Amino acid sequence: MCGIVGYVGGKEAQPILIDCLKRLEYRGYDSAGIAVIGDGIQVYKTGGEIAALEAGMPTMKGSAGIAHTRWATQGRPTTENAHPFEGCEGKVAIVHNGIISNFMDLRESLAAEGHEFSSETDTEVFAHMVEAELNSGDLLTAVRKSLKLVEGTYAFAVVADGRDEVVAARCESPLVVGLGNGENFLASDVTALLKYTNRVVYILDGEVVRITKDSVTIVDAEGKQVTRNPERIEWSMEDAEKGGYPHFMLKEIFEQPAAIHESLLGRIGAVDGDEPFITGNSFSSVKIVACGTSYNAGLVGKYIIEELVGIPATVQISSEYRYSAAARENPLVVLITQSGETLDTIAAAREARKRGNSTVAIVNVMGSAITREVDHVIYTRAGPEIGVAATKTFVTQLTALYLLALELGSKGRVLTAQAKHNIVSQLRNLPRAVQDVLNQADTIEAVAKKYSEARDMFFIGRNIHYPIAMEAALKTKEISYIHGEGYPAGELKHGPLALLSKDSPVIAIVSRDHTYDKMIGNISEVSARDSPVIAVASEDDTEIGKFADDVIYLRNIPSLFSPVPVIVALQLWAYYLAKERGCSIDKPRNIAKTVTVE
Ligand code: F6R
Repeated sequence: MCGIVGYVGGKEAQPILIDCLKRLEYRGYDSAGIAVIGDGIQVYKTGGEIAALEAGMPTMKGSAGIAHTRWATQGRPTTENAHPFEGCEGKVAIVHNGIISNFMDLRESLAAEGHEFSSETDTEVFAHMVEAELNSGDLLTAVRKSLKLVEGTYAFAVVADGRDEVVAARCESPLVVGLGNGENFLASDVTALLKYTNRVVYILDGEVVRITKDSVTIVDAEGKQVTRNPERIEWSMEDAEKGGYPHFMLKEIFEQPAAIHESLLGRIGAVDGDEPFITGNSFSSVKIVACGTSYNAGLVGKYIIEELVGIPATVQISSEYRYSAAARENPLVVLITQSGETLDTIAAAREARKRGNSTVAIVNVMGSAITREVDHVIYTRAGPEIGVAATKTFVTQLTALYLLALELGSKGRVLTAQAKHNIVSQLRNLPRAVQDVLNQADTIEAVAKKYSEARDMFFIGRNIHYPIAMEAALKTKEISYIHGEGYPAGELKHGPLALLSKDSPVIAIVSRDHTYDKMIGNISEVSARDSPVIAVASEDDTEIGKFADDVIYLRNIPSLFSPVPVIVALQLWAYYLAKERGCSIDKPRNIAKTVTVE
């Protein structure tokens, strides 16, 4: 996946394009490029991050252009494979996010007509196709006609020599138009545009859009004009900036009390019937489908739903769900995705609808693709998340799952008034419980530093904390590059114990509930193999210090809700490990924030 931006207006395009592009760097950062329409098409591209592009590019005069930051899928991350691409005659330049799946066939027939290619990418064919079409018409029509031959997923942006316009198109890759005064913008994500405008128009699959200085024209695949009202984005520019923190990830970790509060705002009352999230509950089970961190949120959701609603809940990885056999039951399918653009999860939503199931999406980004694929949407309201590692979107996904379970439990008459009252007051306490953890960031940093040279780490939990162990392992591996594994504590003796030694610390989540004694037993098994044990435990646990080498103490709250403060402590753990190891925290190697490829 990649980030694309476009600009047409009365100002110099180059600095605006670079500024917007920097806000999309989380989408990919292995090469970058820019094209500006001025005296001909000026193109500059390079391998590496946007900083390398900025440092190397010449000044480009002109008030229309496009730019791109790449995360390689087809073709190595080299300067040759960086976007933009031009046709043979240098009359058009294009940038692309997605995959042209039939590019080999297209390339062969273009080559037979005499076109020459300079890269290994799928994208380049499109530059040649548009250029050939442009000889006989306007740019919008040339793009629309060329798209008829393209199979795959895309957000394209195209400029042509001598024309102050950008034409763009979308199919399963995000694309949004930003409306300015005497200028208009295009981007893969609204966060790129917030400095310039908060009025946006989302482009839908199959549509082609042409922006000029003072017009936006959208047409469908057949060329029929489409009208759509602009939306106002409430996120401020400041929301998308680092706000004094060294990394977006740390800022986003510290925003979690406010994010949970925002997520709950006005909704607890709704659970009692004013404004239901979900209607038509003829289902007798729930299936949660998601990827990565969102999948781990789903695993926690299983415990929450089974406890509060009393119906079975299963959780499946999106790419597995798509190809699984449809069960005879008719579950409510809950799709969790912070970006709302993860292709596997969108495909899963379509599959669920095909199977006739009710669908609900738990999503952070307003107007994102998944919102158009489901029956109901619950926004997590975490605000923009820029760090590649998901943090505040995870805890707000959990918040949304509590609310969903509360609603389903209320509608299904499983929860008594007293039970609902207790749950609501626990939810209202969550921001404070998280703030308590944040207040201990220095302590967590000191413990993390002691173990930052480890090569492997194991995270163990029981019951609802088992998925938290998995999420902590995922955070640790993705940003600190320490190999991390999350296990149900009882499972260690079925294999993983073989890997333990004094060099493999074990982080144990110790809950003051019915699993406590068993967890102490598991910790003893670990200590017997000389592995250091770091316990995350309740502040009133006076025994745990005898069993663990280090303890991170957290406020004691009921186990059903403690996944939230516990994961915040372990996000800090991963963050400080990565900081100590000098890792690229906001942009870890090889991964990107929004995965719009299968
Ligand atoms: C890890 C992380 C990823 C995402 C996954 C799904 O920190 O962020 O594992 O959770 O790529 O993304 P969404 O939630 O946008 O569908």
